[in-house]
Amino acid sequence: MGNIFKKLGIGLVIGGVLVGIARSQEVPFDFQLLFIIIALIGALLFMLLDAPSVGTMSGGKSLVAVAVFWVLLITVCFAGASLLPQFDPEDERAKITKLLEREREKSEQGKTEKLLALAKSLDEQVKVLEERLKGVAGGAPVASAPPPGKKPAAASAGGEGDIMKVGEEQWQLQECYNCHKLRGEGGKKRGPELDNIGSLLTVEEIQMKIADPKSFMAEGYEKEWQKGIMPNKFKDLMDPKEMLALATWLGTFKNTSVNTPKPIKKS
Ligand code: HEC
Repeated sequence: MGNIFKKLGIGLVIGGVLVGIARSQEVPFDFQLLFIIIALIGALLFMLLDAPSVGTMSGGKSLVAVAVFWVLLITVCFAGASLLPQFDPEDERAKITKLLEREREKSEQGKTEKLLALAKSLDEQVKVLEERLKGVAGGAPVASAPPPGKKPAAASAGGEGDIMKVGEEQWQLQECYNCHKLRGEGGKKRGPELDNIGSLLTVEEIQMKIADPKSFMAEGYEKEWQKGIMPNKFKDLMDPKEMLALATWLGTFKNTSVNTPKPIKKS
């Protein structure tokens, strides 16, 4: 009996020391509790060593004894574990998510500011380019002071030339030449040659095709049409005037010696 108290005392002392260390390291209370329990379990095991030995058993009796012992042990483990403070991973995750969210918000705010600055500088670049394009398109001499001695071009005549210029410019800017051969140039990626498109489609229909590539299908290009190889983005990249100019310009291509495939109306 005295031995039991001695061992219990040692267990408590060791548990106390462990808790002391844990506290100095700011280990959470739940873990301090766990350390005491572990120390006590250790003490209990040493006490068991002093228990009087059980008489030898044999046959069915020994089997039952082993089974009872295991059931007892498992019950104690489960009961003890469920009495302890539970660690819920979902709880922890919620906490971490909250923390991360705050961080993310901070960095997103920074990103937004950067993007705003970028948008502003791009806007300025666009303005400069627009001014330059006006000059190229021939609008500038009319808008700004015309050079002395030079008559401003008549609106209609100048307008026609402008449209053709803008149309060809759009062909280059939108990089239609990447997929379409025209005047023997371009068309590295698979798309039909367009030199005779003016004989096959009206300007309006060409416009429809550019704005909505699904509207017409070039005969023999079923696969490409189905896959949507021709990008459906031009109506966002061009304003209506530019698209009209491009279609008008393309409509002048009526070279019947080139085998531009027949466009088939789809929608
Ligand atoms: C990424 C490749 C690609 C680009 C870029 C592209 N196209 Fe196409 N285009 C195709 C393909 C492939 C077809 C044939 C399949 C179809 O009708 O959709 C086609 C068909 C056409 C047709 C119908 C030809 C016919 O004979 O029926 C016209 C007109 C046309 N494109 C105009 C243009 C214009 C104008 C541009 C630039 C604004 C352009 N495409 C940009 C791939 C492209």
